[in-house]
Amino acid sequence: MVKADGLAAGKGVSVCFTEDDAARFLREVMVERKFGDAGERVVIEEYLEGEEVSVLAFTDGREVIPLIASQDHKRAFDGDEGPNTGGMGAYAPVPAYGPAVADVVREEILDRVVRAMAERGIPYRGVLYAGLMLTAAGPRVLEFNVRFGDPEAQAILPLLETDLVEVLMAAVRGELRGARLDWRPESCVCVVLASGGYPGPYRTGMPIEGLDSASTMEGVEIFHAGTRRQGGAFLTDGGRVLGVTARGPDLARAVELAYRAVARISFPGMHYRTDIARRGLLGR
Ligand code: GLY
Repeated sequence: MVKADGLAAGKGVSVCFTEDDAARFLREVMVERKFGDAGERVVIEEYLEGEEVSVLAFTDGREVIPLIASQDHKRAFDGDEGPNTGGMGAYAPVPAYGPAVADVVREEILDRVVRAMAERGIPYRGVLYAGLMLTAAGPRVLEFNVRFGDPEAQAILPLLETDLVEVLMAAVRGELRGARLDWRPESCVCVVLASGGYPGPYRTGMPIEGLDSASTMEGVEIFHAGTRRQGGAFLTDGGRVLGVTARGPDLARAVELAYRAVARISFPGMHYRTDIARRGLLGR
């Protein structure tokens, strides 16, 4: 992968399968200056192919307790097309993330980064988010965040049976040793309803219909991301407006319930992906 190091509106990157491809793109960036100063420096990285997963963990600076894995859908449109967004939906757990890879991630990635931070005198307590690519050669780190993921948290936390506050307090107090997390043996899917135009410019203030009807469905929870209340009604007030989340005994039934809830909600310009969790259903 060859990338212009500066900001290039998401276009300054090329997947180069041959040295000729790389030389051609480098010439465009550094000699022809296609991206101006953004191409003064380039970054060259290993090309990673595989399933992308988000693995979050609680840590008290020593102990690491991973949560179940989830998969985000970062592109705006079905089939992973269109521009990158903050995330158009997520599901958990991820069938492709089995116990063997979970052990590798824990030992080779999560434990090591937490230990390294402690050794540097900056112990981290809280939620560590590892964005990973599961490649044929093993898991590779794409990014770390020091927070929950959005919308990953909406797909993970409804399955957590353990009291979240107790775990967080144990992390803060350095008392996670011996703690364990209990999970509902179910699947959870979150479909993000976005404003028309998002992640580009969009209008706000659109009246949202159907929230009461959708939120009374058994197993459905609706998270407000970009809404505001006006009188007794809710209006859109952001790019990602709602996270319509459903639990089910398996992934297929969670998906079906989430989209039945989505069908009850509407606002002018509303758009969402219709293929959230499809990769999980295909067992990739
Ligand atoms: N959904 C991606 C993130 O929270 O970083």
